[in-house]
Amino acid sequence: MIKLNSKLEEISKFVNIEDRVYDIGCDHGLLDIYLVKKLGIFVHAVDNKEGPLDSAKKNSKIYNVNNIVFEISNGLDKYNKENCVIMAGIGGLTCINIFKSHKEYIKNIDKIIVSANNFQIEVRKYFTSIGYKIEKEILVKDKKIIYEIEVFVKGKEIYNKKDYFFGPRLLENKNNLFNEYYDSKLKSKRIILKLMGNKYFFRRIKLNNEIKMIEEEI
Ligand SMILES: C[S@@+](CC[C@H](N)C(=O)[O-])C[C@H]1O[C@@H](n2cnc3c(N)ncnc32)[C@H](O)[C@@H]1O
Repeated sequence: MIKLNSKLEEISKFVNIEDRVYDIGCDHGLLDIYLVKKLGIFVHAVDNKEGPLDSAKKNSKIYNVNNIVFEISNGLDKYNKENCVIMAGIGGLTCINIFKSHKEYIKNIDKIIVSANNFQIEVRKYFTSIGYKIEKEILVKDKKIIYEIEVFVKGKEIYNKKDYFFGPRLLENKNNLFNEYYDSKLKSKRIILKLMGNKYFFRRIKLNNEIKMIEEEI
C-alpha cells in the first residue's frame, strides 16, 4: 500500500466510501491512487500543469490503478458532478477564485476538503458565505510544517471573529499542536510589527489586534 505523508493521510480520512472525488491540484496523484485502492471509489484528479499530471499517470501505472480520470484542468473547469472536492497545497485565494468562477457547481458539491497554503481566514469566510459550514477541522504536522485542514459541508452555522481567525473546531479541541502553531504565528507577527514603519498605521492596528487575540488564546 502507498505511504502517504501525514497531511494527505489525514485528508484521506475525511473521504467516505460513498464519495465521488474531484481533486484539484493532484500533482503526483498519490492521494487519488490511495483513495481508489483503499475505498474503491471514483476519483477525478486534475492539475493545471502537464508535468505533475504525467507523474500522476506514471504512478497510477506503477500502482496498477485504472479507474482514475487524470485530466489537465484549471480548477473546476473539467468538473463533472462529483460530490466531494479536495483542494490541498494550493493558495487560499486560488481556492476561493476556483469556486467564484464556477458558482453553478455548488449545488452538486456537498463536501469540500481544503488544506490551503495561506489565507485560511478568508477561506473560512468565503466557503461559509456560500452555503457551507465547517464540519471538521484539524492541524497536522508534516516534516516540521503545520497544516490546517478544513472540511466544509452544506449547512449554516453562525461564526464570530474568533471562529474565523482560529477555526471554530480547532478552538473546541485545543491541543499542543494548536499552541505550537499559534505560538509560531505570534512570533512572526511580533517581528513583522517591529519591522513595520509607523506610516502603516491601520496595518499596525490590525496586527496588534491579532497579536492580542493569539496571546489570549494560547
Ligand atoms: C503543492 S502541489 C499539492 C499537491 C497535493 N495536492 C498536496 O497537497 O500534497 C499543488 C498542485 O496544484 C496545482 N495547481 C495550482 N493551481 C491550480 C489550479 N488552479 N488548478 C489546478 N491545479 C492547480 C499545481 O500545479 C501543483 O501540482
